[in-house]
Amino acid sequence: MRFTFYGHACFAIETGDKHILFDPFITPNELAKDIDVNSIKADYVLLSHGHDDHIVDALTIAKNNDATIVSNFEIVSWYGSKGYTKGHPMNHGGQWTFDFGKVKYVNAVHSSVLPDGSYGGNPGGFIVDAVDDATFYYAGDTALHMDMKLIPMWAKLDFAVLPIGDNFTMGIEDALVAAEFIECDHIIGVHYDTFGYIKIDHEKAKAAFAAKGKKLSLLGIGESLDF
Ligand code: NI
Ligand code: MN
Repeated sequence: MRFTFYGHACFAIETGDKHILFDPFITPNELAKDIDVNSIKADYVLLSHGHDDHIVDALTIAKNNDATIVSNFEIVSWYGSKGYTKGHPMNHGGQWTFDFGKVKYVNAVHSSVLPDGSYGGNPGGFIVDAVDDATFYYAGDTALHMDMKLIPMWAKLDFAVLPIGDNFTMGIEDALVAAEFIECDHIIGVHYDTFGYIKIDHEKAKAAFAAKGKKLSLLGIGESLDF
């Protein structure tokens, strides 16, 4: 599996011949100005919740690629009402087997409203178990919460993608506890540095994880990691 970071909380995975994109927020992100959204491939676009900083480029990329939008029922229905009907609705606790692997939509503690004020359902995260490939958890925007302790019962994680920027989500200290709850030693940090409220000290963050025997990867925008 190849993991590529596109800035903020946006990333893609490539598994087999499938491309899966998460939470695209690229065109308004000054830090991601070198990323061309029209060159991004996607068979699926997974959206954790309805906030602008997670969905702003979703429709463009979905249309470019005839991709399936996977999210909660309300968000998929909202895209349907806008004329983009290629979606797969889920809700918390539910799992579905796609052609690239199994996806479980799990709880997140956050909020979710769509850009025009429409109800965005409840925010979530995803556990992805790719066919003959890595298994990972993307928490979405969330606080640390006790339901994360259920995750090891469902999946043995090769890595996890956690928000670490604080203010709107978990910060570094809570993300470290989350890494313990989910029993995962390799965390890829997201949702930091994009705005003033969420700027972090990279070296301090990595050292805090290392002190607990865990690895924190903070990728450059456009950078990839192979699992
Ligand atoms: Ni959010
Ligand atoms: Mn966000």
